[in-house]
Amino acid sequence: MKLFIDTANLDEIKKANSYGVLDGVTTNPTLLSKEKEEPMVQFKKICEIVKGPVSAEVTSLDAEGMLAEAKELAQISSNIVIKVPCTIDGLKTTKELSASGIKTNLTLCFSPSQALLVAKAGATYVSPFVGRLDDISTEGMNLIEDIRVIYDNYGIETQILVASIRHPLHFVEAARIGADVATVPLSVIEKLMKHPLTDIGIKRFSDDWEKLKTSLVK
Ligand code: G3P
Repeated sequence: MKLFIDTANLDEIKKANSYGVLDGVTTNPTLLSKEKEEPMVQFKKICEIVKGPVSAEVTSLDAEGMLAEAKELAQISSNIVIKVPCTIDGLKTTKELSASGIKTNLTLCFSPSQALLVAKAGATYVSPFVGRLDDISTEGMNLIEDIRVIYDNYGIETQILVASIRHPLHFVEAARIGADVATVPLSVIEKLMKHPLTDIGIKRFSDDWEKLKTSLVK
């Protein structure tokens, strides 16, 4: 499973990239609004740090506007992926972009039917939001399982990009189900490597090593 970071913050992206396990970046208008930089400039800076896919979202609601934005965004760098909402206009936009060889990420996916239609339109990625489903007392990970089954039934190549991940269990479940990508905030990426027994074990090894060195000096 590929690991993307879900942020538009350059320091967070650099930090995650330095861990050696980062495959790409996803952003959205809310994340960009925290950065106080012109979005096109921010995307350029992100693409200079990460060579893998970088999702940049359109904000128009109609296909014509989405396509115009997409064409501008695609000029920034060859690794830009156009993020488009799961709407009818999003479908039309996806069909056009995929015909021109431009990669797409269909965002705000909350149902298997949306996932199937965006795949038919040629989406490169579909982004089901698991955390936001959990927020309304619906099991978000069930949607990932449903989409995996449906895509496998038909050999669909659209990649399942699990989004709105809030904790390590979402990440582990996504991998168990066979999702293609998980996009994860930095705070959760760091929790993925945390284990109290690792910390206790390191401390014990280090204490015993010191004891050995002290006893040899005597
Ligand atoms: O990738 C989509 C993600 O940014 C949404 O996360 O936590 O706002 O639901 P959240």
